Amino acid sequence: MIDIRNIGITFAQGTPDENIALHDINLSVQRGDFITVVGSNGAGKTTLFNVLAGNLLPTTGSITMKDAGSTIDITLQKEFRRARYIGRIFQSPLLGTAGKMSLEDNLMIASYKGCKQLKINLNKRKRDEFKTQLAELGMGLEDRLADNVELLSGGQRQALSLLMATMSHPALLLLDEHTAALDPANAAIVMGLTTRFAKERALTVMMITHNMRHAIETGNRLLMMDSGEIVFDIGTEEKAKLLPEDLVTRFKELKRREIVSDGMLLQ
Ligand SMILES: Nc1ncnc2c1ncn2[C@@H]1O[C@H](COP(=O)(O)OP(=O)(O)OP(=O)(O)O)[C@@H](O)[C@H]1O
Ligand SMILES: [Mg+2]
Repeated sequence: MIDIRNIGITFAQGTPDENIALHDINLSVQRGDFITVVGSNGAGKTTLFNVLAGNLLPTTGSITMKDAGSTIDITLQKEFRRARYIGRIFQSPLLGTAGKMSLEDNLMIASYKGCKQLKINLNKRKRDEFKTQLAELGMGLEDRLADNVELLSGGQRQALSLLMATMSHPALLLLDEHTAALDPANAAIVMGLTTRFAKERALTVMMITHNMRHAIETGNRLLMMDSGEIVFDIGTEEKAKLLPEDLVTRFKELKRREIVSDGMLLQ
């Protein structure tokens, strides 16, 4: 469904601070995939999401998308246009919702995302629909439609972000460590909602996580990134055999190799 070909990102090109954040990335995402993405700090995970979301334009390469039999090149498409079909949730619960607005106003905006219609009406039918959807989160938010979102806890707010991001049926949902800022209990609740929504709403998801157990137990494919490259790409069967310790060992091996090659450069 989405094809990433030879994507490269170089920051501060041609200066002493030059940094190759992504190096010749190739990746095909199929409809219905749930891909978990792991990698140490600075590996290029968020940068890859930025390129997919249109927040950063790649230095090299292309991104194409297949939709209803036709293929469109979205490499240079503006972020606000892509936002119609690419949803994104960040680590901070503050980023996916508008704190100073009520729950119902936030949901109203989310439900009209991508619509050309200018006039939006919050009628009883719409309000009942929101209540039903909020009740699905199992957090009692259906009784708090008029409350401002800033009154919610981090976990509640992130669950609301998830609901809002999936309301417009995005073709791709990007989750960037979306449970990392939550306490373990809330992280488990939001992860549970994530896998449930992905299944029920037949979503295509990419999820960055530093939680090795989540990375292994969730989804049908796992990518490991290191120094701007995809170093490891496995499917369901291989993933089922993996243990969190195996991934940690891989990380250590990669780090050792980097130290060795840096050492060689210094000689
Ligand atoms: N806008 C930017 N300008 C310059 N360098 C950047 C920019 N964004 C990211 N980088 C650099 O690109 C590299 C990859 O960063 P990125 O944020 O993608 O890592 P990450 O894998 O998401 O790490 P983390 O797990 O810490 O979130 C890092 O060296 C980072 O400093
Ligand atoms: Mg990141």
